[in-house]
Amino acid sequence: MSPRTAGAMPLLVELDARAGRPLHEQVYQRIHSLIREGLLSAGARLPATRVLATELEVSRNTVVTAFERLAAEGYIEGRAGGGTRVSQVLPDDMLAIPASSIRHIPYGSGRAPSRRALELAQLRIRRWSESAGPVEPFRLGAQALSHFPARDWARLARRHWARPTAMAMDYGSIAGYRPLREGIAAYLQRARGVNCDADQIIITSGSQQALDLSARVLAGPGDAAWIEDPGYDGARGALTAAGLDVVAVPIDEHGLNVAEGLNVAPQAKLAYVTPSHQFPLGVTMTLARRRELLRWASGQGAWVFEDDYDSEFRYATRPLPALQGLDVRGCVIYAGTFSKVLFPSLRVGYMVVPPALLDTMLHARILSDVHPPALAQAGLADFIAGGCFERHIRRMRNLYPERQEALVAAGRRHLSGMLDSQPANGGMHVVGRLPAGIDDLHAAEAASAAGVQVTPLSFFTFSNQVPDRRALLLGYAGLTPEQIANGAERLARALEPITRAARG
Ligand SMILES: Cc1ncc(COP(=O)(O)O)c(C=O)c1O
Repeated sequence: MSPRTAGAMPLLVELDARAGRPLHEQVYQRIHSLIREGLLSAGARLPATRVLATELEVSRNTVVTAFERLAAEGYIEGRAGGGTRVSQVLPDDMLAIPASSIRHIPYGSGRAPSRRALELAQLRIRRWSESAGPVEPFRLGAQALSHFPARDWARLARRHWARPTAMAMDYGSIAGYRPLREGIAAYLQRARGVNCDADQIIITSGSQQALDLSARVLAGPGDAAWIEDPGYDGARGALTAAGLDVVAVPIDEHGLNVAEGLNVAPQAKLAYVTPSHQFPLGVTMTLARRRELLRWASGQGAWVFEDDYDSEFRYATRPLPALQGLDVRGCVIYAGTFSKVLFPSLRVGYMVVPPALLDTMLHARILSDVHPPALAQAGLADFIAGGCFERHIRRMRNLYPERQEALVAAGRRHLSGMLDSQPANGGMHVVGRLPAGIDDLHAAEAASAAGVQVTPLSFFTFSNQVPDRRALLLGYAGLTPEQIANGAERLARALEPITRAARG
């Protein structure tokens, strides 16, 4: 059909009553396309709604609805006595920024970020450089994402995204979505021996936010904070950003050396620890050390931040219950994350805080992000309640040790005398020791030139008290046995000349 009105442009509008799309939508789409394709140009007059409705054999309301939407979006405009015309300036033109006008805008004179921000940028937190791009062997932190139960996840998420209630789309609880907090509390009591109820749980944007909040809330600028050495650079960054005086405390075979902490900074206000599986060395903090740490914290009025980032992945023996479960004085902040067990872009973690601290924590939190996306939290709550979460953990607990075994075996086959990788009782990486005389940074550079991504231990050492930095960290969880064997061969080719030179 081609409706015509005196002076109006012809509109080639084909309608299909069986198309499954409302007729007003079809009229809108067709006129919209004619305008976008330039077949109806700026200022072109459209037929009157009554005329067009008659021509199309639809109700006038159908055409009016389509015209109203086009007008609301700025494609057409009505003028008194002048009928309806295509707009002189289309919304697409207004929104599109021509490539020629995009240029680098420098800071104006005397204007720059604060000195403090520039100093923090110098910390070069590892995640900054490791994200994006294909997973090379043996990238630290990479996981078996292709084994993630995406179908279950999508089915559960769709329930919330398809028809969100007004309540789900409004601001939600600052502490997080209640059913998710309940699911996490039950899991932590059952699997980690954490002493908590749902009221104590705050859903965070990963454990990084738990660290940031704790650093800001539990200590003030200039206060000392202990950090494990070697240790997690993300923690060091958050404590530094809060203005704390970060004190490196060495790790030994029992975990954080509390006596050394007492020696260097007895008045510290906060201690950051990874007791279940020390990052990056993998030591489990002994019960005696845990008690010693808690004794110091309660005597000193200090806080302990327990980062339980990957305790789900324990293979040979059951993990020790969380340090928080031993705390009777309310001095431990327990943090966990879904970054390792599910996937890191989810950006959901949680913290368990002593009840007396809850209100202050939530006030600090509202100043940054209010709360994580509510619909993502709702999908995750169902994923946990439906058993998918723990099923996925069980599967990865079978898969990851197989992959670790493949790495250790490939190391024995290809890297003997160049890198000694011992099996670990958990986690997603192993520590490979280099022979005497080989610098880990140099070894990692040589590996990188051969397309192998290994992480030097030096990236995580904060002082010169770490006695032996000659080690590389090799992630294996995201790699098939074939990729592992291939990576080990390439790594051997890269390390061979360095090892030979070091032997003299
Ligand atoms: C020791 C440690 N804690 C926590 C995390 C996870 O941080 P997030 O939950 O912010 O992703 C990581 C990730 O690399 C880590 O190595």
